Amino acid sequence: HSHLLGIEPLAPPEITTILDLADQYVDLNRRDVKHADALAGLTQINMFFENSTRTQASFELAGKRLGADVMNMAMQASSIKKGETLIDTAMTLNAMHPDLLVVRHPQSGAVDLLSQKVNCAVLNAGDGRHEHPTQALLDALTIRRAKGRLHRLNIAICGDIAHSRVARSNLLLLGKMENRIRLIGPPTLMPSGIRDFGVEVFDDMKQGLQDVDVVMMLRLQRERMDGGFIPSEREYYFRYGLDAEKLAYAKPDAIVMHPGPMNRGVEIDGEIADDINRSVIQEQVEMGVAVRMAAMDLLARNLRARPKAVMA
Ligand code: CP
Repeated sequence: HSHLLGIEPLAPPEITTILDLADQYVDLNRRDVKHADALAGLTQINMFFENSTRTQASFELAGKRLGADVMNMAMQASSIKKGETLIDTAMTLNAMHPDLLVVRHPQSGAVDLLSQKVNCAVLNAGDGRHEHPTQALLDALTIRRAKGRLHRLNIAICGDIAHSRVARSNLLLLGKMENRIRLIGPPTLMPSGIRDFGVEVFDDMKQGLQDVDVVMMLRLQRERMDGGFIPSEREYYFRYGLDAEKLAYAKPDAIVMHPGPMNRGVEIDGEIADDINRSVIQEQVEMGVAVRMAAMDLLARNLRARPKAVMA
């Protein structure tokens, strides 16, 4: 592949290849071997049109640890504020000969469109409610390391599924790897036609969590709720917030995940989030750096293998 735009086009062996390489980067990071040269001589530009802590920081660290020249565009201070379009901005940066563009944008499909206008590798760091491929890959690596496998697991994804690119990318990835997926949440936050994906749908946490291996919690994504149903936080926590009583319905060794940012006391109880025997939330962050190193390393191998197209 020339880009990493989503999980949709990836075949299971390609997912495994990324995770295997990421595993190697986890080991290097843990051994404090923080400089490699897989991206030496390459320029990486990060363009985040939406707020981020984890994704932005880990893409920046990943690039720096692999020897790239990394530039973070401060989009709030860019000429986007003067009316320049996304595509004109991307083509302007493209003229400076970057090799890797990491893009987050609030509109679904925006990163795909941008990738058609530039002649470098584009990595989707989250586009609207569409896809967040590196999040699904880091979640998969976390699950594989915790459970020893990435197939035939019972996995519950809970909360605001309708507005979540994390849920969508995870559904695609975990489905490709032949896991059994349950979606739990209010019917108003469940996408219509979701059962066609071969998932089970529940609106009761205790029923849905019965005997699952993995519990993945999601934030209420209010920024994407355009005037529709917005639940009160109290009511939401009572019915869908993960607390010890609800978690007791999962397997005793079930792991608890959250992509972050987390709203304690809304979708998850703070004590569960901090329980090192159940929660792998910090491991997810650690895996994020390694997965992004692996994804950029593999794209760079592709870039180096073919002559760069001359710009039209
Ligand atoms: N999980 C995730 O994408 O977090 P950020 O929005 O902080 O990057």
